[in-house]
Amino acid sequence: MQTSPRGRLDRPTPQTDAELIRSLAAEVCPMGLPVITAEMLRDHTALRRLREAGTVEVSLGGRETGLMITRYDEAAAALVEPRLRGEHPLAASMRTASDEEVCDEEQLFFLPADEHVRLRRLISRQLTHRRVAGLASRIQREADRLLAQVPAGEPVDFVQAFSRPFPVAVLCELLGIPTAERRYIRDYVYGWIAEYGESTTVTKSTGLALAEYLRTLIAERRRTPGDDLISAMLRGEDGGTAEQDVLAAVRFLLVAGHRPVTRLLTESVELLLGRRSHWERLSDEPALMDATIEELLRVITPTTLASRYAGDAPRADTADPAAKPAADPAAGPAAGSGVHCALAAVNRDPARFDDPDRFDPGRSANHHLAFGLGHRHCLGAALARAEVRIALGTLLTRFPRMVLTGGTLGDEPGRRQLPVVL
Ligand code: HEM
Repeated sequence: MQTSPRGRLDRPTPQTDAELIRSLAAEVCPMGLPVITAEMLRDHTALRRLREAGTVEVSLGGRETGLMITRYDEAAAALVEPRLRGEHPLAASMRTASDEEVCDEEQLFFLPADEHVRLRRLISRQLTHRRVAGLASRIQREADRLLAQVPAGEPVDFVQAFSRPFPVAVLCELLGIPTAERRYIRDYVYGWIAEYGESTTVTKSTGLALAEYLRTLIAERRRTPGDDLISAMLRGEDGGTAEQDVLAAVRFLLVAGHRPVTRLLTESVELLLGRRSHWERLSDEPALMDATIEELLRVITPTTLASRYAGDAPRADTADPAAKPAADPAAGPAAGSGVHCALAAVNRDPARFDDPDRFDPGRSANHHLAFGLGHRHCLGAALARAEVRIALGTLLTRFPRMVLTGGTLGDEPGRRQLPVVL
């Protein structure tokens, strides 16, 4: 079987694969393609069958069609494929991420290519491993502050008490949001974001409110710089970054930087406490923490999709769409065609990971793709790892006898619960 995504892109999907996938998906879209839902992207039985079928054409949530990749080698190749560095078809209708009407989570991930390159550069300089290492004490302070409010010895919902507020608190701290205004940002961010497949575009007034708030804050930081990411982004490399770009970068961070951390923390605590020997071993041997986090990232895979679109690589030096090189129809798939990597399937591909469903922190060379790969790989990977290291380390030290009092309840974003006693 042809395994390169290059080959796959040029080849029609075998009928038998499509039939198999249709039998897995509950519905088909008007084009006759199986509809892959957010739930299916976390259902390991369905994902195993998808992976066995190989790359197939699907409809994502009934809204967008494309190839779905479920095997590790194909995903690793597709994510770095130069012919898949194009824009999402919607990008043409996007103005800019600083536009207050553009506040849907998915839209922010489909920015016009030139703006995307600019924002990535702006954000990535602030979230390097070195910078994040310097932020550890501030992340620790947020963890301590939240845990100090949790009553010990009483049943609490871990999601509400810790795993949900913690990443937002960290972002607020790093962005320098004044303490009195953090609750407002937190509530805003919670209401703003929708899980894939249930996208909610906020009302214009809500988008405006956040943009107005952030504009005022950014202007203040321009006048009086502080020890925060907004001030650092404004300083830029060469005499200052435009406020519009800083506003867009802040929105991008707020959108991307909390939900996967919440999921990883919740499911990590559930997994480690559910098999107590893992929790106790980690408590006895803190040196295992980094390898444990990598294995948690692999088996949990908090973000289930990494998508690429056919087309040319963006030119960072121009915002003029007319200046982009014209697509060559002979060069491959039509510009805008989507290729979607189902990361939870990829991270349990038996061709790459021995006994992939087993949680094994001792796994060597754990090159999972939980943070994606290539020109769109996660910008917050170092920060996310630091957050989880600090959160689990603090729980293990302060509450070694912490127990689950039930499994996770509900899978709806915002309504999930994990009952524990600290
Ligand atoms: C466990 C936590 C996290 C996981 C599993 C995760 C995973 C991912 C994945 C899979 C992607 C897409 C990668 C690709 O297409 O190749 C992504 C993109 C991104 N992530 Fe994360 N992420 C996490 C935390 C964070 C945090 C804490 C931040 C920032 C504070 C962040 C910022 C971003 C941004 C800005 C992008 C978009 C990159 C782009 O489009 O160029 N992420 N993340």
